[in-house]
Amino acid sequence: MESVRVIRTVQDMHRVADRMRRDGFRIGLVPTMGYLHGGHASLIRQIGRVTDRTVVSVFVNPAQFGPDEDFETYPRDFERDLAMVHAEGGSLVYAPSKAEMYPDGYATYLEVERLPDHLCGASRPGHFRGVATVVAKLFAAVKPHVAIFGRKDAQQAGVVRRVATDLNLDVEIMIAPTVREVDGLAKSSRNRYLTPGHRRRATLLYGVLQEGRDRVLKGEKRASAVIDAMNRRVSRSTGVAVDYISAVDAEDFRPVEALGDRVLLAAAVRFGKFRLIDNIVVETEPRAVRELR
Ligand code: PAF
Repeated sequence: MESVRVIRTVQDMHRVADRMRRDGFRIGLVPTMGYLHGGHASLIRQIGRVTDRTVVSVFVNPAQFGPDEDFETYPRDFERDLAMVHAEGGSLVYAPSKAEMYPDGYATYLEVERLPDHLCGASRPGHFRGVATVVAKLFAAVKPHVAIFGRKDAQQAGVVRRVATDLNLDVEIMIAPTVREVDGLAKSSRNRYLTPGHRRRATLLYGVLQEGRDRVLKGEKRASAVIDAMNRRVSRSTGVAVDYISAVDAEDFRPVEALGDRVLLAAAVRFGKFRLIDNIVVETEPRAVRELR
């Protein structure tokens, strides 16, 4: 069985991408920060269905971490990542170094307006500037026809779509459903930080979103009432702190007060030192009916 090829430099990535394009292959990109899990495996499988060659990028991007965040301790296991890419049918891993991505003298960052004003953009200032910048650089190096992102990071996916549209990038952005553990916790590289006690409590995050969804589906139209109920649910747990619980427009992430027929419920909760995020879209009218209006 062929092994996965690892590419370390922008120049090599350009050469390989140009050759794949010349040979008529459609290139799919799965951008990751490594420490791959079942959510990434699902992204690799999904993009493999619509492209001929799958490139998985593995780069822990310093530009998207704040000074007090977990850049240094972010989990890393490159050999395990290669094995998973191989098992899921990926053929190439693009794993540039920090110096390759941000060499001395590097001075260009992408600033997306409005979309990062709320949720993670508000609680992690500069985070989406770093995400937008690195994703644009990955697109420039890998030259993908299609790139795929998980819906768990809904705001990130929205920011990336905005970048691709606004910069007229010739890349299709696919957004894939959140993959969950059997108890509902969204898969994330950061789950490995959790102590067994926090891991048990972390099911609360999805429980809180479901609490909100049930209220909306029962006809509650006031976002504040839904958010209060969600906060009450968290307050019954110990050792857990809310970063944000919000009801926002699913396209532009602005908080809403009167709930329409499609809302994104999003939460960021700290379990001990570690912060997990999750979200769900709640639709009170089937898509077909909404599109007829
Ligand atoms: O979602 C992630 O893992 C990262 O934010 C991304 C998109 C790979 C950019 O560093």
